[in-house]
Amino acid sequence: MSFDPHKSPPRPELFDFHGVSMTHYFTDNWENIQNVQARPDDILIATYPKAGTTWVSYILDLLYLGETERQKDVPIYDRVAFLDIFIPSVLSGTDMVDNLATSPRIIKTHFPVQFIPKTFWEQNCRVVYVARNAKDNVVSYFHFDRMNQVEPEPGDWSNYLHRFMAGKVVYGSWHNHVNGWWKKKQTYAKLHYMFYEDLAEDTGREIDKLCCFLGLSRSDEVKKRVTDGVHFDNMKKDDMANYSTNPVMDFKISPFMRKGKVGDWKNHFSAAQSEQFDEDYKKKMMDVTLQFRSEI
Ligand code: A3P
Repeated sequence: MSFDPHKSPPRPELFDFHGVSMTHYFTDNWENIQNVQARPDDILIATYPKAGTTWVSYILDLLYLGETERQKDVPIYDRVAFLDIFIPSVLSGTDMVDNLATSPRIIKTHFPVQFIPKTFWEQNCRVVYVARNAKDNVVSYFHFDRMNQVEPEPGDWSNYLHRFMAGKVVYGSWHNHVNGWWKKKQTYAKLHYMFYEDLAEDTGREIDKLCCFLGLSRSDEVKKRVTDGVHFDNMKKDDMANYSTNPVMDFKISPFMRKGKVGDWKNHFSAAQSEQFDEDYKKKMMDVTLQFRSEI
């Protein structure tokens, strides 16, 4: 990817796109995205932004392709195609999908479930959805938006938090996203719904579950190597995993691999913000069977 940060365009504006807050980077290629051709063995990683996409991308990449040369010189954001993105004359997610030479192709998206091109359902592709508790998710998203030039200006924390609660951030409402995908899971058998907090608690166990879902048999030794390889400290210092080569991000503001913790929200929310967030959360999640860990 070549993107000159010194000639960067202004931060994009949010607008309503089929009822979801989006920016032009994720809507300009809409027609091509909707017409993309999935293959039956494609694997789609779907997440709300900052829920652990890169972590799971790295796990799947290692499980399928092992520790090959490309681990050393191809960044994870080029090994896994980002379907949604479109930066004119720089990067197109649909071209990335078409040009992926790996088999299976691993494709990531942040789209809410209703935006997914129907080809993925028609081809009965496997989908891995990763959800992260709302409070840590919004904190991570805030720091990401501060450092990422292709995201709208986040403003200050308090303002950002209110916009997140109102769904006025890129990809819209967190609540609608996690719930929409949860509903899909009830009718689509090839959807594995997993949680960032479970991965953090026991990465090896979650890798076992992924292998089971993907129908992969890997030796204990391989799984142990993957588990160790995707530890936060290892990914943070690995330039192919930590996004340090990505020109749209300013690491002087915040690193991509920031903290990698469950419960960091406690360092950001005031007591009043937490109370207000919880009240709003209860209303929006009232009718849903989806449960995040109670201690969060
Ligand atoms: P924080 O900002 O809370 O540190 P995504 O890949 O969806 O953009 O998500 C990024 C978030 O996942 C960041 O959260 C990042 O640090 C965290 N993350 C990435 N790899 C991780 C790992 N191996 N272990 C724990 N957290 C990880």
